[in-house]
Amino acid sequence: MSAADMDELPGAARALLDCFDQPELRPFLADWPGPGASRRSVDPRPLPVLQWLDRLAPHAAGETRPLVDGIVAAAAQLAWGQTYAAADFGARFLERYGWSELVGLRGPVASDRLACGVLLLGPDLEYPAHSHAAEEIYLPLAGTALWLRGGEGWRPRRPGELIHHPSGIAHAMRTGDQPLLALYLWRGGDLAQKSTILGAAGDRQEGPDDHA
Ligand SMILES: [Fe+2]
Repeated sequence: MSAADMDELPGAARALLDCFDQPELRPFLADWPGPGASRRSVDPRPLPVLQWLDRLAPHAAGETRPLVDGIVAAAAQLAWGQTYAAADFGARFLERYGWSELVGLRGPVASDRLACGVLLLGPDLEYPAHSHAAEEIYLPLAGTALWLRGGEGWRPRRPGELIHHPSGIAHAMRTGDQPLLALYLWRGGDLAQKSTILGAAGDRQEGPDDHA
Protein backbone atom coordinates (compact mmCIF):
# COMPACT_ATOMS: atom_id res chain seq x y z
CA MET A 1 0.00 0.00 0.00
CA SER A 2 1.37 3.39 -0.90
CA ALA A 3 0.61 6.84 0.47
CA ALA A 4 -1.81 7.35 -2.42
CA ASP A 5 -3.87 4.36 -1.36
CA MET A 6 -5.99 5.86 1.39
CA ASP A 7 -9.01 4.54 -0.47
CA GLU A 8 -7.75 1.00 0.07
CA LEU A 9 -7.64 1.22 3.86
CA PRO A 10 -11.26 0.16 4.52
CA GLY A 11 -10.84 -2.88 2.31
CA ALA A 12 -7.49 -3.72 3.89
CA ALA A 13 -9.07 -3.50 7.35
CA ARG A 14 -11.86 -5.83 6.26
CA ALA A 15 -9.39 -8.30 4.74
CA LEU A 16 -7.50 -8.45 8.03
CA LEU A 17 -10.71 -8.99 10.01
CA ASP A 18 -11.66 -11.82 7.65
CA CYS A 19 -8.63 -13.72 8.97
CA PHE A 20 -10.36 -14.10 12.34
CA ASP A 21 -12.95 -16.79 12.92
CA GLN A 22 -14.39 -15.65 16.22
CA PRO A 23 -18.14 -15.67 16.81
CA GLU A 24 -18.16 -12.21 18.39
CA LEU A 25 -16.90 -10.74 15.13
CA ARG A 26 -19.55 -12.21 12.85
CA PRO A 27 -22.38 -9.71 13.46
CA PHE A 28 -19.95 -6.86 12.86
CA LEU A 29 -18.85 -8.28 9.54
CA ALA A 30 -22.48 -8.94 8.62
CA ASP A 31 -23.09 -5.20 9.04
CA TRP A 32 -20.05 -4.21 6.98
CA PRO A 33 -21.23 -2.09 4.03
CA GLY A 34 -21.25 -3.78 0.63
CA PRO A 35 -19.33 -2.79 -2.47
CA GLY A 36 -22.10 -0.39 -3.48
CA ALA A 37 -21.75 1.73 -0.33
CA SER A 38 -21.31 5.41 -1.03
CA ARG A 39 -17.90 6.99 -0.64
CA ARG A 40 -17.12 10.37 0.84
CA SER A 41 -14.10 12.56 0.47
CA VAL A 42 -12.67 13.60 3.81
CA ASP A 43 -10.69 16.74 4.56
CA PRO A 44 -7.30 15.88 6.05
CA ARG A 45 -6.98 16.91 9.69
CA PRO A 46 -3.78 16.17 11.63
CA LEU A 47 -3.45 15.94 15.39
CA PRO A 48 -0.44 16.07 17.76
CA VAL A 49 -0.75 12.31 18.42
CA LEU A 50 0.51 11.64 14.88
CA GLN A 51 4.04 12.34 16.18
CA TRP A 52 4.13 8.71 17.36
CA LEU A 53 3.30 7.17 13.99
CA ASP A 54 6.93 6.44 13.17
CA ARG A 55 7.31 4.37 16.35
CA LEU A 56 4.50 1.92 15.54
CA ALA A 57 5.96 -0.46 12.97
CA PRO A 58 8.43 -2.31 15.27
CA HIS A 59 5.51 -3.07 17.58
CA ALA A 60 3.18 -4.58 14.96
CA ALA A 61 2.47 -8.28 14.51
CA GLY A 62 3.26 -10.02 11.24
CA GLU A 63 -0.36 -10.12 10.14
CA THR A 64 -1.12 -6.55 11.21
CA ARG A 65 2.01 -4.93 9.79
CA PRO A 66 0.66 -4.29 6.26
CA LEU A 67 -2.34 -2.36 7.61
CA VAL A 68 -0.11 -0.46 10.06
CA ASP A 69 2.16 0.53 7.19
CA GLY A 70 -0.85 1.60 5.12
CA ILE A 71 -2.27 3.75 7.90
CA VAL A 72 1.10 5.34 8.63
CA ALA A 73 1.60 6.10 4.93
CA ALA A 74 -1.89 7.57 4.52
CA ALA A 75 -2.14 9.29 7.92
CA ALA A 76 -1.60 12.79 6.55
CA GLN A 77 -4.62 12.35 4.25
CA LEU A 78 -6.95 11.17 7.00
CA ALA A 79 -9.30 13.21 9.17
CA TRP A 80 -8.21 12.67 12.78
CA GLY A 81 -10.69 13.49 15.50
CA GLN A 82 -11.05 13.63 19.26
CA THR A 83 -14.12 12.91 21.31
CA TYR A 84 -12.94 14.64 24.45
CA ALA A 85 -11.94 18.16 25.45
CA ALA A 86 -9.25 19.26 27.90
CA ALA A 87 -11.90 19.53 30.61
CA ASP A 88 -12.48 15.76 30.40
CA PHE A 89 -9.02 14.21 30.83
CA GLY A 90 -6.61 17.16 30.66
CA ALA A 91 -4.46 18.76 27.94
CA ARG A 92 -1.82 16.01 28.08
CA PHE A 93 -4.41 13.44 27.05
CA LEU A 94 -5.27 15.45 23.94
CA GLU A 95 -1.60 15.49 22.91
CA ARG A 96 -1.59 11.70 22.88
CA TYR A 97 -5.00 10.65 21.62
CA GLY A 98 -6.93 10.62 18.37
CA TRP A 99 -8.98 8.46 16.07
CA SER A 100 -9.84 8.35 12.40
CA GLU A 101 -12.94 6.72 11.01
CA LEU A 102 -12.75 4.49 7.93
CA VAL A 103 -16.39 3.33 7.84
CA GLY A 104 -19.38 4.99 9.46
CA LEU A 105 -21.34 8.20 9.74
CA ARG A 106 -18.36 10.39 8.78
CA GLY A 107 -15.64 8.19 7.31
CA PRO A 108 -14.73 7.61 3.65
CA VAL A 109 -17.11 4.62 3.42
CA ALA A 110 -20.65 5.46 4.52
CA SER A 111 -22.58 3.28 6.96
CA ASP A 112 -25.25 3.99 9.55
CA ARG A 113 -25.07 0.46 10.99
CA LEU A 114 -21.36 0.01 11.66
CA ALA A 115 -18.42 2.23 12.51
CA CYS A 116 -14.82 1.14 11.95
CA GLY A 117 -11.70 3.18 12.39
CA VAL A 118 -8.36 3.39 14.10
CA LEU A 119 -7.50 4.69 17.54
CA LEU A 120 -4.01 6.03 18.17
CA LEU A 121 -2.64 6.57 21.68
CA GLY A 122 0.79 7.88 22.61
CA PRO A 123 2.93 6.16 25.24
CA ASP A 124 2.42 6.50 28.99
CA LEU A 125 -1.25 7.32 28.77
CA GLU A 126 -4.41 6.06 30.40
CA TYR A 127 -7.69 6.20 28.52
CA PRO A 128 -9.99 6.23 31.54
CA ALA A 129 -12.81 3.76 32.02
CA HIS A 130 -15.93 4.42 30.02
CA SER A 131 -18.92 2.53 28.73
CA HIS A 132 -21.47 2.81 25.94
CA ALA A 133 -24.49 1.00 24.66
CA ALA A 134 -22.83 0.10 21.36
CA GLU A 135 -21.12 -3.28 21.16
CA GLU A 136 -17.44 -2.90 20.34
CA ILE A 137 -14.49 -4.90 19.10
CA TYR A 138 -10.89 -3.75 19.21
CA LEU A 139 -8.03 -5.29 17.31
CA PRO A 140 -4.67 -3.91 18.43
CA LEU A 141 -2.52 -3.42 15.32
CA ALA A 142 0.69 -2.13 16.88
CA GLY A 143 1.76 -1.78 20.50
CA THR A 144 1.14 -3.98 23.52
CA ALA A 145 -0.89 -2.09 26.11
CA LEU A 146 -2.81 -2.93 29.25
CA TRP A 147 -6.55 -3.27 28.74
CA LEU A 148 -9.25 -3.35 31.38
CA ARG A 149 -12.62 -4.96 30.75
CA GLY A 150 -15.34 -5.13 33.38
CA GLY A 151 -14.08 -6.79 36.52
CA GLU A 152 -11.26 -8.68 34.82
CA GLY A 153 -8.52 -6.29 35.83
CA TRP A 154 -5.66 -4.98 33.69
CA ARG A 155 -4.33 -7.45 31.11
CA PRO A 156 -1.65 -7.02 28.45
CA ARG A 157 -3.10 -7.38 24.95
CA ARG A 158 -0.88 -7.91 21.97
CA PRO A 159 -1.35 -6.94 18.31
CA GLY A 160 -3.60 -9.44 16.59
CA GLU A 161 -5.62 -10.20 19.75
CA LEU A 162 -9.35 -9.43 19.38
CA ILE A 163 -11.01 -7.72 22.36
CA HIS A 164 -14.80 -7.76 22.63
CA HIS A 165 -16.70 -5.23 24.71
CA PRO A 166 -20.35 -6.23 25.11
CA SER A 167 -22.89 -3.43 25.38
CA GLY A 168 -22.52 -1.40 28.57
CA ILE A 169 -19.33 -2.97 29.92
CA ALA A 170 -16.71 -0.67 31.50
CA HIS A 171 -13.38 -0.65 29.67
CA ALA A 172 -10.12 1.29 29.71
CA MET A 173 -6.62 1.19 28.20
CA ARG A 174 -3.19 2.08 29.54
CA THR A 175 -0.11 2.42 27.36
CA GLY A 176 3.44 2.02 28.62
CA ASP A 177 6.61 2.49 26.59
CA GLN A 178 4.88 1.73 23.29
CA PRO A 179 2.27 3.81 21.47
CA LEU A 180 -0.89 1.96 20.50
CA LEU A 181 -2.67 1.74 17.17
CA ALA A 182 -5.88 -0.30 17.29
CA LEU A 183 -8.71 -0.98 14.89
CA TYR A 184 -12.13 -0.43 16.43
CA LEU A 185 -15.57 -1.63 15.38
CA TRP A 186 -18.87 -0.32 16.73
CA ARG A 187 -22.32 -1.68 16.04
CA GLY A 188 -25.78 -1.61 17.52
CA GLY A 189 -27.95 1.37 18.21
CA ASP A 190 -27.09 4.94 17.37
CA LEU A 191 -23.48 5.19 16.24
CA ALA A 192 -23.37 8.77 17.53
CA GLN A 193 -24.66 7.90 20.98
CA LYS A 194 -23.23 9.33 24.18
CA SER A 195 -20.48 7.53 26.07
CA THR A 196 -20.48 7.45 29.84
CA ILE A 197 -17.18 8.33 31.50
CA LEU A 198 -16.66 6.36 34.70
CA GLY A 199 -14.69 8.64 37.01
CA ALA A 200 -12.12 7.38 39.49
CA ALA A 201 -14.22 8.62 42.41
CA GLY A 202 -17.31 6.95 41.09
CA ASP A 203 -18.69 10.12 39.56
CA ARG A 204 -20.32 9.83 36.16
CA GLN A 205 -20.70 12.28 33.36
CA GLU A 206 -21.97 12.16 29.84
CA GLY A 207 -19.30 12.61 27.21
CA PRO A 208 -19.80 13.89 23.69
CA ASP A 209 -20.09 11.60 20.68
CA ASP A 210 -17.72 8.71 21.11
CA HIS A 211 -16.43 6.28 18.56
CA ALA A 212 -13.82 4.56 20.61
FE1 LIG B 1 -15.29 1.86 23.80
